[in-house]
Amino acid sequence: MLSDEALREIEACKAEESRKQHALLTALRLTQAERRHVGPQEVLYIADLLDLSPATVEGVARFYDQITKEPTGNRVLSICRGISCYLCGADGAAREAAAALGVDQGGSQAEGRVTIRHVECIGDCDHAPAAMLDSTFIGPLDPASLSALIER
Ligand code: FES
Repeated sequence: MLSDEALREIEACKAEESRKQHALLTALRLTQAERRHVGPQEVLYIADLLDLSPATVEGVARFYDQITKEPTGNRVLSICRGISCYLCGADGAAREAAAALGVDQGGSQAEGRVTIRHVECIGDCDHAPAAMLDSTFIGPLDPASLSALIER
């Protein structure tokens, strides 16, 4: 289910740490990156890999916004709706981004290329309305940055 490279990284993490739970976040992060989600099948796989209960894996996976139950697009645009971003026009920026990318807010393009997610404060309030494309901060979202984003 995972690449050899990902499995090697998880094994290295297991070997470094005294508790196998410490490898869980690494396994979740790599599974999300490679499979674009951590659904029921992935939960069972990780539980078996780390000799943990599926409930433990599921509980940790659902705690984090970045670990999704449904497949995301190849690129994920996370638009902050925290209070600073809301006050600086995050709702309008989100509508513009959705329209420009042809994506339903909170959904994915039909071809699965881009998913727009709404998230709470991402710690980039001084660039409100803030957003991230995958793991890169791209705020403030304005017409110019949206155009650049669409170009990419
Ligand atoms: S409220 Fe949006 S980055 Fe903090």
